[in-house]
Amino acid sequence: MKILILGSGGREYSIARAISNENDTHELFFQPGNGATDILGTNINIKDYNDLATFAIQNNIDLTIVGPEAPLVDGVVDIFKAKSLTIFGPSKEAAQLEGSKVYMKNFLAKYNIPTAKYIETASIEEAFKFTDTLTAPIVVKADGLCGGKGVIIAQNHDDAKVAISEMLSGKSFGDAGLKVIVEEFLDGYELSMFAVCDGDDYILLQAAQDHKRLLDGDEGPNTGGMGAYAPTPLVDEELYQKVKDRVIKPTLEGMKKEGAPFEGVLFIGIMVVNGEPVTLEFNVRFGDPECEILMPLMTSSVSDMFYKAATNHLSDIKVEFSSQYAVGVVMASENYPYKSSTPAEIIVDEVHHDEIRDNTHISYAGVSKEDDTLYADGGRVLVCVGLGDTIKQARDRAYLRCGQVHFKGKKIRTDIAYQAL
Ligand code: AMP
Ligand code: GLY
Repeated sequence: MKILILGSGGREYSIARAISNENDTHELFFQPGNGATDILGTNINIKDYNDLATFAIQNNIDLTIVGPEAPLVDGVVDIFKAKSLTIFGPSKEAAQLEGSKVYMKNFLAKYNIPTAKYIETASIEEAFKFTDTLTAPIVVKADGLCGGKGVIIAQNHDDAKVAISEMLSGKSFGDAGLKVIVEEFLDGYELSMFAVCDGDDYILLQAAQDHKRLLDGDEGPNTGGMGAYAPTPLVDEELYQKVKDRVIKPTLEGMKKEGAPFEGVLFIGIMVVNGEPVTLEFNVRFGDPECEILMPLMTSSVSDMFYKAATNHLSDIKVEFSSQYAVGVVMASENYPYKSSTPAEIIVDEVHHDEIRDNTHISYAGVSKEDDTLYADGGRVLVCVGLGDTIKQARDRAYLRCGQVHFKGKKIRTDIAYQAL
């Protein structure tokens, strides 16, 4: 197949890597890709979605896969479908499950899907009044996309009110904060679950755990994710079943009733509270770095799964997973997540040890290339992935691989997967 992948992160690299490993007949294109994806295919640079669809038609692209949320919320899927192209991802309307937290929370409430008690409002008085009914900590969320920064966990009522005022005045997040959600704080452990959906049917992948804070022990500021592992032993069959029955099935049925059948990756952020799954949020794409560890655990064809999902034929296939575990450790640049960093040359030692060569790999993200030299270009630079028969073995291998990657200012967490060990 000829496949076009939208995005530039480790997530998109890992999807491409999995597809490349299937066989030699696939041809891959990236919009825009990064300094390492050009080894797996061809990077293009066409920002306008109509022009991109024209490119897809002219180059006989069989399937387009959308990685990040922004093009989905902008309606790239609708534009491609109007031109009879096959594209995997939700429509602009269905992408509101991520694009608007107000839409998402109201949807959850309408279809009785368990979620934290909340209010959605543009009125400061209403928000303050509801805040006074909650016990701290209190969670305040901006309605729109804020690049993962729009959630404030306030430790007391005064801080919650400051966060509300700054959002509603447009000061903290511009238009994205002109409506807010105020909600109760859920105390439990967090999971990332991913359902690949075709509008009617779905395939639930293995549950993962992300590590959102910058520093060991879950300290420091929130990031896009500093590492992940899967499958997590914190989920048993009973919990998977509860998530299917209480969250995924009613969501797919509800979205059909809303006239926006959900096709794409439904990323369910779950807090397990006293053994019961509560929906924290939906995203409409794979998590990053979760995707980087889930792709290498799939033993059946990844491209076929996306193609069948994009053509509403998921029920025709059986997806298979390896019995191994995967651990991914993110290497971020010096100033992440505060500001950009000066590009730094990346040196990757040659791997001599069979065990490490056969059971680890690197998914590249924030990298650029000049004269065949890779540079860490800021943000999250790459993910070292280790596979193993136990979580500990996978983790140890991932960290051994980390020791062989060098660039100035490299930053990692040393405790990825601690909750399972
Ligand atoms: P979100 O973007 O909604 O996933 O929020 C970002 C992070 O904030 C989540 O991954 C959780 O760690 C945390 N969070 C969000 N909502 C709540 C809540 N109601 N209770 C506790 N933690 C939350
Ligand atoms: N790793 C969490 C996310 O991609 O939103």
